[in-house]
Amino acid sequence: MSAKSAPVLPAASGVAEAAAVLRSGGLVAFPTETVYGLGANALDARAAARIFKAKARPSFDPLITHLADVEDLATLVGALPATVAALAERFWPGPLTLIVDRPPAVPPIVTSGLETMAVRVPDHPVARELIRRAGLPVAAPSANRFGMLSPTRAEHVVAGLGDAVDLILDGGPTRCGIESTIVDARGDQPVVLRLGSLPVEALVEAVGPVSVRPGSSGQPVAPGTLAAHYAPRTPLRLVDAPAPTRPDDGTRGYLAFREAPERAYGAVEVLAPDGDLTGAAARLFDALHRLDATGVREIVAERVPDAGLGRAINDRLRRAAATWQTSG
Ligand code: TXA
Ligand code: MG
Repeated sequence: MSAKSAPVLPAASGVAEAAAVLRSGGLVAFPTETVYGLGANALDARAAARIFKAKARPSFDPLITHLADVEDLATLVGALPATVAALAERFWPGPLTLIVDRPPAVPPIVTSGLETMAVRVPDHPVARELIRRAGLPVAAPSANRFGMLSPTRAEHVVAGLGDAVDLILDGGPTRCGIESTIVDARGDQPVVLRLGSLPVEALVEAVGPVSVRPGSSGQPVAPGTLAAHYAPRTPLRLVDAPAPTRPDDGTRGYLAFREAPERAYGAVEVLAPDGDLTGAAARLFDALHRLDATGVREIVAERVPDAGLGRAINDRLRRAAATWQTSG
């Protein structure tokens, strides 16, 4: 934790001050239902530029614009393709990000020069109150340094980015724990660009077949879907449960889905003893942050069942592991 860390205010009492910071071009970390966001005025190119600098985020990786209410989308963007409008009506506020045409009011730096814009209405009272009071669309990536673990608690923001923001709103641990699902529904069949907290099954139920194309290789459509991302500082290896029986010397950490392994590890986190994937998703990044802090030399992580939210959890674990495969 840096001595220069930004003030951390309780969400309820700090929201008015945070809105003023946003209006004056500053950076505010705030809770959403998925992960903490690093917000700036989406209509102000200089404010948006500060996000890229604070995160050390490459300029080719576009930001998500956050709105307070579903109706604000038509006000900002104008007419919408039918399926985009239907998904917004059905799932907002909630952990779904939709791709729309970038309106002229939003400067190109926000979308990394793309003519499309990612947008969502978060399902969190503090986030919505903040955006409403600021009276602005708020550009906000996850409030972590580029490529690192996403923050699900204010403490994670303080540790990772505390000296690079103007104010942190503490709303406690986030409910979903994994980022929003990103969908491009402008064409004939919606395309999932990033698996996330809204399960694919829920999308299919609402609008019929979708294709899932997280850009894991080649040209990433959503650069947050780069193969290597969401990584702890500690090397991470992915295994199928149950854990392999090779003896451990106690210097590794273990991330279990339901049950702690029998042999000794230096540190163990269990995501969901009851097998509930919603709870597992909510705990995922927090558990990885904790294992990372123990100083173990490797984190061994179990794959979870690959359905519903399990797909998004496995996606994050795969990307965390990929970071370390490239560095040996
Ligand atoms: O749950 C979330 O979505 C969180 C909270 C704070 O809202 N935000 C978040 O932002 O995860 P970030 O910056 O970590 O991830 C945004 C993703 C990136 O993968 C980015 O490439 C993609 O959204 N994205 C943004 N604009 C896009 C666009 N026009 N087309 C395709 N992908 C886009
Ligand atoms: Mg992120």
